[in-house]
Amino acid sequence: MVAGITDYLREQIPGLLIIGPDKQGALLEGSKSYAKQFMKENNIPTASFIKVTLDNLIDGINHIRGNKGPYVLKADGLAGGKGVLIIDDAEEAVVMLKEMINGKFGEASICVIIEQFLKGLEFSVFILTDGQYYVLLPEAKDYKRIGVGDTGLNTGGMGAVSPVPFVDSDMIQKVRNRIILPTLSGLQKRNIDYLGFIFFGLIEVGGEPFVIEYNCRMGDPETEVVFPRIKNDFVELLEALRDQDLYEIRLDTDTRTAATVMMVSGGYPETYEKGKTINIASDINDSIIFHSGTTLDGPTVKTNGGRVIAITSMGDSIEEAVDISMRNSEKIIFEGSYYRRDIGLDLKSLT
Ligand SMILES: Nc1ncnc2c1ncn2[C@@H]1O[C@H](COP(=O)(O)OP(=O)(O)OP(=O)(O)O)[C@@H](O)[C@H]1O
Ligand SMILES: [Mg+2]
Repeated sequence: MVAGITDYLREQIPGLLIIGPDKQGALLEGSKSYAKQFMKENNIPTASFIKVTLDNLIDGINHIRGNKGPYVLKADGLAGGKGVLIIDDAEEAVVMLKEMINGKFGEASICVIIEQFLKGLEFSVFILTDGQYYVLLPEAKDYKRIGVGDTGLNTGGMGAVSPVPFVDSDMIQKVRNRIILPTLSGLQKRNIDYLGFIFFGLIEVGGEPFVIEYNCRMGDPETEVVFPRIKNDFVELLEALRDQDLYEIRLDTDTRTAATVMMVSGGYPETYEKGKTINIASDINDSIIFHSGTTLDGPTVKTNGGRVIAITSMGDSIEEAVDISMRNSEKIIFEGSYYRRDIGLDLKSLT
């Protein structure tokens, strides 16, 4: 979308229903500096920031040396989920800043955003919008780190839960009024005809929501817990979007908890081997098994990526949902498989 596939298809095949923003709308995700400027202009709560390029590198360096860490350095453009560095030491941050501007992440980091570090609990909120009306989808929390207790390297996500216990109706109301509505009116002000999903990556600081990032799509593994909770016919939702009938839609949500656990290849998110045979028992009940990094080799299912299979289950509590996924994970066997057994359990003390 950032490269313009939506624009291209709309032009080439008129009449096709395409859910997703055009190039202009996709800048919310495609350029961190665009998104930060957008938020600033529209008074949307977010971490304070400065934008640094080769031209004002010295300002960036002075900013780091003049402020306390941790330092959040973000490549402006898309960097495959690896473009954000959080560094405690000032001099190390200066070195990294220089490396980024010199092309550590290619074109994406020729411009860098240095952000104020926010401390709090992260969660994600999703909307489906025709640019004017929107439907709020269930919120989610994902687990990015590879290790138990949120330790070790960042990954594309090791699991997720929905709903999120600390996100109450008060918080959702704040998100609607201070973040979602100003985002939609900001897009209108810029004459951007946004049709599609917006993923708001949020953090709660002192009871208030702040935007960490926008994505212009659903995310993985959040989708694996958000969609199973939506009872409406999904195609009807998309048709309502097309027909500008979104305001008539009442989202019917499963009140139970969904939890997903990602089974990954040994070594992920660093190097890992592919092509391991996956044995999936035939008696798996009560979970949805999402294939991701898998492939068929004749009749045999084999691993074909780092993130192999996500197991989603529903329960009356996070623990119950995670337990069912854990039980079924034992019925999916491949060499080197790894998954976190503590998805959602940090939220127990908050309920
Ligand atoms: N200002 C900040 N303060 C504290 N932590 C932050 C801040 N900005 C980002 N982070 C942390 O870094 C992570 C990645 O940041 P961000 O979401 O902007 O990057 P991204 O590469 O677009 O991520 P994704 O791949 O999920 O789209 C966040 O989920 C959060 O944990
Ligand atoms: Mg992002």
